[in-house]
Amino acid sequence: YNVHHYSFIVKNTFFERLCSNKTMLTINDSFPGPTILVHKGDRAYVNVHNEASYGVTIHWHGVKQPKNPWSDGPENITQCPIKPGKIFTYEVIFSDEEGTLWWHAHSDWTRATVHGAIVILPEAKTTYPFPKPVAEQVLILGEWFKGDVKEIKDNATATGSDPTLSDAYTINGQPGFPNNCSNGASYKLTVEHGKTYLLRLVSAVMNEEMFFGIAKHNFTVVAHDGAYIKPITTSYIMITPGQTMDILVTANQSPSHYYIAATPFSDSNAAFDSTNTSAILQYTGNYTLPSSIPYPTLPNVTDQNAADNFTIRIRSLASAEHPINVPKNITTRIFIAVSVNQILCANASCGGPGGNSRLAASLNNVSFVTPSIDILQAYYRSLTGVFGSDFPNQPPSVFNFTGDVGNNTLYPTQGTKARLINYGEAVEIVFQGTNVGNAENHPLHLHGFSFYLVGTGYGNFNATSSPSTYNLNDPPEVNTFGVPKNGWATIRFFANNPGVWFMHCHLERHASWGMDTVLIVKNGTTVETSILPPPTNLPTCS
Ligand code: C2O
Ligand code: CU
Repeated sequence: YNVHHYSFIVKNTFFERLCSNKTMLTINDSFPGPTILVHKGDRAYVNVHNEASYGVTIHWHGVKQPKNPWSDGPENITQCPIKPGKIFTYEVIFSDEEGTLWWHAHSDWTRATVHGAIVILPEAKTTYPFPKPVAEQVLILGEWFKGDVKEIKDNATATGSDPTLSDAYTINGQPGFPNNCSNGASYKLTVEHGKTYLLRLVSAVMNEEMFFGIAKHNFTVVAHDGAYIKPITTSYIMITPGQTMDILVTANQSPSHYYIAATPFSDSNAAFDSTNTSAILQYTGNYTLPSSIPYPTLPNVTDQNAADNFTIRIRSLASAEHPINVPKNITTRIFIAVSVNQILCANASCGGPGGNSRLAASLNNVSFVTPSIDILQAYYRSLTGVFGSDFPNQPPSVFNFTGDVGNNTLYPTQGTKARLINYGEAVEIVFQGTNVGNAENHPLHLHGFSFYLVGTGYGNFNATSSPSTYNLNDPPEVNTFGVPKNGWATIRFFANNPGVWFMHCHLERHASWGMDTVLIVKNGTTVETSILPPPTNLPTCS
């Protein structure tokens, strides 16, 4: 494999958007940040120098990091933050990922401005399982807050209410038409008539799922979450925070300008940023622009069917060159209820829904509390009092979730609980969405793995009938998937990566409210199946 070196300087940089300005955390002054470019199986050393005024960490979203949780990044889960003035070198170990992934800060809400793409090309002497595009371009969907994201998060946590909404979405850092003061600065993608391009789309959005499309151009989705899929030709996609989609688009319309746009998909009654963002697809050559540039027709903001109709089409490529490995005989089963809840406050005025409660979220009715020493270190060095290994194997009451809004589920317990799994187990996790506090689709993400989404459905999971709907032939291999609103989702994987792996909702407000847990895949019996030794310059915790 080849080794790549990157230098990331974390610092505050001045930016102006929407006729408003602020300084914000960036890597190397850029937003989005630099692209990491490797071939399958390579290794990247990313030297992160923190010149900001508070601690940060970086996560390589979707990179499995075999045996190497030390460089995974979630703050106080696998490392303590890199303190101001300090340096940490992440060793990013690529294995079988191929396509597009991304990296982002993993401390508080810093990922809003600290993120970038990871492009993983096929290894030498192999090619894409589709015709080679003439050029490639990363497109990152983001969310722009006029205010300071750290303050927004801290305020929301302190008051117990919904965080301030963003002021715009962005494509490659630009809000674009029709946002205030954004028209001229739109991101522009130049194409030549008749040629095919590969767009590597990343959703770095914080709190919303998005529809995305290109006016008058159908396109073909060929990869998702760093794995190839059976090609899907469509006029729009739905993409959740954390996901990536590789898209082939052919410039087959009359040379002109066309809007590329993303609009929110909101299936809950939580407030959301209702603005749109756009970029411009511009053909080369001489032509007269129409009086109004075509804008894509995207599904309505509440169109759950449109979202489902796209998502259901995603299937693994499952070819001879790109085989899949779905566990058939399960040895470890876990049921996880996914809820938005409330936590009663000590004083009567913490500002949440009832005045005496704050918003919270939970997995199996445990609202996660982030420890002050990282769980990986505590596990590796057998330190006690940092986490419990008693994350429940199923929720407290019956496995009946939709409609159960009793106090037993409204008010979760709080704790730092992990689920230990033996190395090599064939694992199935069934996630059941509930409507305890607020029903909505939750984009769940597990670090350290890609896994197979073998089934989803509406209503309660039924242990007898639901498994008969599983797709074990070509289920999508993903790292982030939606647990449907008022529904369930089942994933399967082999626990073949020893380490401490964070699992959480990728809607940032839910993650901050406690919709997180940790899976610890225990050391195997050999060096090959055990965690690597810690790197020498690992940040210290005090
Ligand atoms: Cu993309 Cu734990 O995150
Ligand atoms: Cu969620």
